[in-house]
Amino acid sequence: MQKFVIHGGRRLEGDITVQGAKNSALPILSAAMLCTGESVLENCPELSDVYAACQILTSAGCHCRMQNHTVSVQADVIRNSEIPESLMQEMRSSVIFLGAMLGRTGNCILGYPGGCELGARPIDLHLQAFQKMGVKIQEENGIFTCTTPNGLHGAKIHLQFPSVGATENIMLASVLAKGETVITNAAREPEIVDLANYLRKCGANLAGEGSSTIMIQGVRKLTGCTYRIMPDRIVTATWLAAAAVTGGAVRLLQADTASLEGILDVFEQINCHCSYTENTICFSAGNVLRPVRSLKTMPYPGFPTDAQAVVTTVLCKANGTSVIEETIFENRFRHADGLVRMGADIQTAGRIAVIHGVRQLHGAPVSATDLRGGAALLVAGLGAQGETVLTEISHIDRGYDAPESLLRNIGADIRRI
Ligand code: UD1
Repeated sequence: MQKFVIHGGRRLEGDITVQGAKNSALPILSAAMLCTGESVLENCPELSDVYAACQILTSAGCHCRMQNHTVSVQADVIRNSEIPESLMQEMRSSVIFLGAMLGRTGNCILGYPGGCELGARPIDLHLQAFQKMGVKIQEENGIFTCTTPNGLHGAKIHLQFPSVGATENIMLASVLAKGETVITNAAREPEIVDLANYLRKCGANLAGEGSSTIMIQGVRKLTGCTYRIMPDRIVTATWLAAAAVTGGAVRLLQADTASLEGILDVFEQINCHCSYTENTICFSAGNVLRPVRSLKTMPYPGFPTDAQAVVTTVLCKANGTSVIEETIFENRFRHADGLVRMGADIQTAGRIAVIHGVRQLHGAPVSATDLRGGAALLVAGLGAQGETVLTEISHIDRGYDAPESLLRNIGADIRRI
């Protein structure tokens, strides 16, 4: 079992190149299954979730190769439309392969994606949409058998909530389905635009991504292409948070500033200084960090739930009281316990956290409870006085590509043991 040992309190300063986005790479890897010919996906982060996605592709009969942040997927033949139970459990977002498998083969057998540390994570919106598209779903002992006796066809689908995964899954199923699909109240996240751009480059006919209505006209065939995955906006937020808690100054290269407005605005409220061009952010922490009176997580373009944990860490060191409301997931303050161990003053009640800023955090033995919560503790360790031993870091490896070497390059004292 690996852990990070961090000696905190060092000012971080220097350049960071932002990795590719996990939440783009996963649906795009799934989409590669829809194509004949080879897809070459550049800027793909090397993460355990990406390896799990490649294993799902391989188990379906695709040839998958990863080298130097480039993944090649050859999906000429799909031999197996059952997603192995172990891989469903390995990665919560494995359900994203259902849409692609249905689109390509008309069938899919899969288990329920493993229980989730963020609270219940139902897939009812996905399943209802597929039923409208002609999919028959039988469930027995947690295994879903999905078939399309009369073929997969387009449909009008209104999502009760703009679910990111459901929007992506419907897009994946509909690009090769017969006729037109219209998704209303679709999620608008930048990663959905990235998926649409990849699909279009492969020959798909779709429009409206990035707005609440997405229209897809099914085509007969898609052909693989070379595509560069967009930069990760949550990882960007994490490194900004690390600079903020250490009084640091960093320059983030290969960032996608257009997708970061909601996040940069919050850092400015905290009294950090950001200047940016399309792909570069120059960031420095203010001398005194200010609290944020009221911050609410929202679907894009609101403040992202995935950035909530690392911003909570920053607010622990602000000069005053901040209130955060988590509206997307029911159980997303599990990092608060670890932060309190490190000297933070946080009270949580349901979906609300009240954070009274303290002058200093101190190192402590803490454990990552989930991906972004783990990142929040990593950031806290960098900004705390003394030694932090962070365990259960496999959660962090799901979303951060070699974070320790990147942080060491800008002055952090962190070792993986
Ligand atoms: C994606 C992101 C995750 C991010 C989340 C919200 C990926 C791989 N993961 O997750 O990092 O935190 O978006 O921005 O891109 N819901 C239902 N029924 C459904 C589907 C969702 O009730 O069928 C609920 C969920 O329980 C949750 C909310 O909708 O409360 C948001 O979920 P969703 O947008 O679907 O998140 P994911 O796609 O799972």
